[in-house]
Amino acid sequence: MEFKSVINGKKIDNNQWLEIINPTNFKIAGRVTALDAKSIESAFKSARNSQESWEETKLLDRIVILKNFRDLIETNIEKISEIMMLEIAKGLKDCRNEVLRTLELIDYTFEEAKRLNPLALTGEELGVENKIGVFSRVAKGVVLAISPFNYPVNLALAKIFPALVTGNTVVFKPATAGSLVGAFIGELSIEAKLPNGIFNVVTGRGREIGDLISTNKEIDFISFTGSVGIGNHLKQIASTKDMVLELGGKDPAIVLDDENLDFYANEIVNGAFGYSGQRCTAIKRVLTTDKVADQLVPIILRKVQALSMGEPKDDAFITPLIDEKSALFVKGLIDDAKGKKALILHGGALVKNRLQPTLVDNVDTTMRLAWEEPFGPVLPIIRLRSNDEIIKVANETDFGLQASVFGRDILAAIKVAKKLKCGTVNINGKSQRGPDSFPFSGIKDSGMGVQGVREALLSMTRYKGIVLNYN
Ligand code: NAP
Ligand code: G3P
Repeated sequence: MEFKSVINGKKIDNNQWLEIINPTNFKIAGRVTALDAKSIESAFKSARNSQESWEETKLLDRIVILKNFRDLIETNIEKISEIMMLEIAKGLKDCRNEVLRTLELIDYTFEEAKRLNPLALTGEELGVENKIGVFSRVAKGVVLAISPFNYPVNLALAKIFPALVTGNTVVFKPATAGSLVGAFIGELSIEAKLPNGIFNVVTGRGREIGDLISTNKEIDFISFTGSVGIGNHLKQIASTKDMVLELGGKDPAIVLDDENLDFYANEIVNGAFGYSGQRCTAIKRVLTTDKVADQLVPIILRKVQALSMGEPKDDAFITPLIDEKSALFVKGLIDDAKGKKALILHGGALVKNRLQPTLVDNVDTTMRLAWEEPFGPVLPIIRLRSNDEIIKVANETDFGLQASVFGRDILAAIKVAKKLKCGTVNINGKSQRGPDSFPFSGIKDSGMGVQGVREALLSMTRYKGIVLNYN
């Protein structure tokens, strides 16, 4: 497979390539253009030069044009799913579901864009007379969208479509692992006859072109999803830019009672091990008391032991991690816990980038696994003495993305939820970003600003007021 970058409506072939490795067999899955500084500059210039006329295009006309693009994505769902599977080792069914979920997001984006109604004020609320102010939402200009490897369609198009439908133009940088599908979608945009320059795809390794793209003077807004490290780096080098950052997580599952253990265990195992734990919203620690843990852990254990491990094409539950370096990092967290007397109840074995689903009991706060984001198939059980201690440990983390609270007593769960410092608390459900219409945010190291459909539309637009004075 070979896909080229897209700049100003044209495929770019500079005869420099970035090979994308299939994490399942370490073979070359395909290659994309490795862009140089000159091409990157031309991508931003194309976005700038096309922005004004794109913004002047009527909203409903923009939607008609973008719907052609959206429909081509739907038509190519099987090819997109296949590419995703090959480059990020996500189960084929999960890949297809990610595309379907994103098509719904796009359709909802079109509808919500029609409801960015202007704000009308007269000033009478402050005793002012003879004024009518109309404050509309207008495009910010040129948007840099940067997406992570784990949801290469959803977390890319959740930025790109809100940006485009509101009259912004886009320079999109997919993750290296995710570049094949990102560049393929770029080629579909040409087939969809998007106006030249409004949507540009720049491919290349982040460590080589990342700073170059993030500091380009044409950028009016950055929408980034990725790791804390890169997100904080962006805050430094692009400090003058307006941005939304969706970063890492260490979502706790807090279990308050033993009233519905099988249900709790199902949610916890699915939340922790879905896509092999490579989800920002994965459940990354269980916080509970000994009394509950003594009954809950054996049920979780049975479910973890039953998780299938194998090939993405067979929709195995646990598939190879994105690369060996990431897998070794996860193993390091497990070994650190084991070295400090944690109990490995299941798993822990690693072969290249294939890590068994791993359940670790008796994890305490001296261990790295209690605090660091594994981004892999491991679940630590942390036993604490009281709800107060559970809340304390839950909040001590540098992250603050989501949390889950499980318990029959909803009032008690709400009281705990209100004390948790994070973006969203799920009561009696695993943490998850979807549905995509929900506001999605993290605090502390988990991010800055808010994603979600309406929130993405608002973050990529600004107020433009026109005030009529009359006598
Ligand atoms: P990552 O390594 O931070 O990469 C994210 C994106 O940033 C990729 O496109 C990467 O390109 C690019 N990048 C790398 N260096 C850059 C630089 N100097 N300037 C600009 N961009 C640069 O993250 P990942 O491994 O793809 O994704 C996993 C991480 O993302 C986890 O920490 C996870 O928690 C987080 N995540 C958060 C959310 C959320 O919504 N909160 C969702 C998904 C993932 P390359 O791939 O070419 O390096
Ligand atoms: O980590 C990416 C995030 O978007 C996960 O989405 O809905 O599976 O929690 P979701």
